[in-house]
Amino acid sequence: MAERVAILLAAGVSSRMNTQLPKVLHEVTGRPMLAYVLDACRSVGVDRIYAVVGFRAEQVQERFAEESSDIVWVHQPQQLGTAHAVMCCRAHLQDFTGQTLVLCGDGPLIRAKTLQTLIEKHEAEQSAATLATAVLEDPVGYGRIIRDAYGNIQGIVEDSDCTPAQRAVREVNPSYYLFNNQVLFKALEKVKPDNVKQEYYLTDALSVIIASGHKVVAITAVRPEEAMGVNSRAELSVASKIMQHRIQQELMENGVTIVDPDNTWIDARAKIGQDTVIEPFVYIHGEVRIGRDCRIGPFAFLRHGTVIGDDVVLGVFTEVKNATLADGVRARHHSYLGDAIVGRHVNVGAGSITANFDGDKVNQTTIGDGCYIGSGTVLIAPLVLQAGANVGAGLVVSQQDIDKLCESQDK
Ligand code: UD1
Ligand code: CA
Repeated sequence: MAERVAILLAAGVSSRMNTQLPKVLHEVTGRPMLAYVLDACRSVGVDRIYAVVGFRAEQVQERFAEESSDIVWVHQPQQLGTAHAVMCCRAHLQDFTGQTLVLCGDGPLIRAKTLQTLIEKHEAEQSAATLATAVLEDPVGYGRIIRDAYGNIQGIVEDSDCTPAQRAVREVNPSYYLFNNQVLFKALEKVKPDNVKQEYYLTDALSVIIASGHKVVAITAVRPEEAMGVNSRAELSVASKIMQHRIQQELMENGVTIVDPDNTWIDARAKIGQDTVIEPFVYIHGEVRIGRDCRIGPFAFLRHGTVIGDDVVLGVFTEVKNATLADGVRARHHSYLGDAIVGRHVNVGAGSITANFDGDKVNQTTIGDGCYIGSGTVLIAPLVLQAGANVGAGLVVSQQDIDKLCESQDK
């Protein structure tokens, strides 16, 4: 296999997002955009990833600190354009003779399968550069693919530099490229900022490569959605919606029933078992695991750190956070289980909650197997209820109460 590295462009300020947060940290279904691009690179196999960061670079590095063993962070002090961003990697890559994948951090809808096709085409054609193209209904804002009468690619012209005829072209550049690394860096030296924005455009490197007689080819079968770069909050919501559709599609293929996909929101990190039914208006946020044969919702809110066993029923307005619920738990109406360990076949009555926060810190509640918690109960954490305990409706229970009760029973 050829040696391959990836360069991810993630230094931009993103004025159109109107944000203080680096653009690539904005989330799509619970994960920062850059995470999806990293996933795609990793799944096609790259030896190293050079992530070019600039605006609030330390924030980006910090966010990925735990999953960055294959990442080399490269600093782009001033955002002078996509070609300049790639050029910032020169010190690391000038002697590298393998393949270099270049992708943008603001394209979370990229699919590994497309990258695989890109790589296969590049190797089959032995081209100096291979890009992907997509045909859009509305190509506004994207670089247009300019071809000659024979269909050969001549170059890419940015939206702001297009002539009216070029602007009418609907074949666009999603910014997925695979280069012969040596050819790439040689071409970058010749790129000049002679365009409306006065930036160094990576897209111009392709014209340089073609002009110097190298072979540039494209894969054209890229879905329109995959071409999408997120440049505004409105586009972020569109990308999130598409990603949500993908997540739900995969869950349904894996045997999960989603009754009303349009009114359900499931985090990219969630795992759900076979024959579980997700009723309408369920919101699952963060790393959440749900077993088999469960019924969740309508109107349930499952938050980060929730682990649910098999055959669990959570009904209307049940909120669960950082809690483990064993098989057979029932919490059908209006309850909050936060920072709790709930044993097998526990029944949580309507309106019962764990009072997990004492105003200073968050405390844990442990409810043993088979406990029956009546309606309207407040369980004040930290609290341990032994297996089989029966808590009557409307009680406010603290550990002190229980200790006292045990003492009196002992006497
Ligand atoms: C770019 C492409 C365009 C393509 C579109 C697809 C160029 C010149 N244009 O346009 O052909 O259709 O993506 O989404 O490449 N960045 C840096 N440093 C810089 C400038 C940008 O790291 O100096 C990063 C940004 O953070 C972003 C990515 O590069 O992640 C793309 O930059 P952006 O300004 O969004 O380019 P587009 O105008 O969308
Ligand atoms: Ca963009």
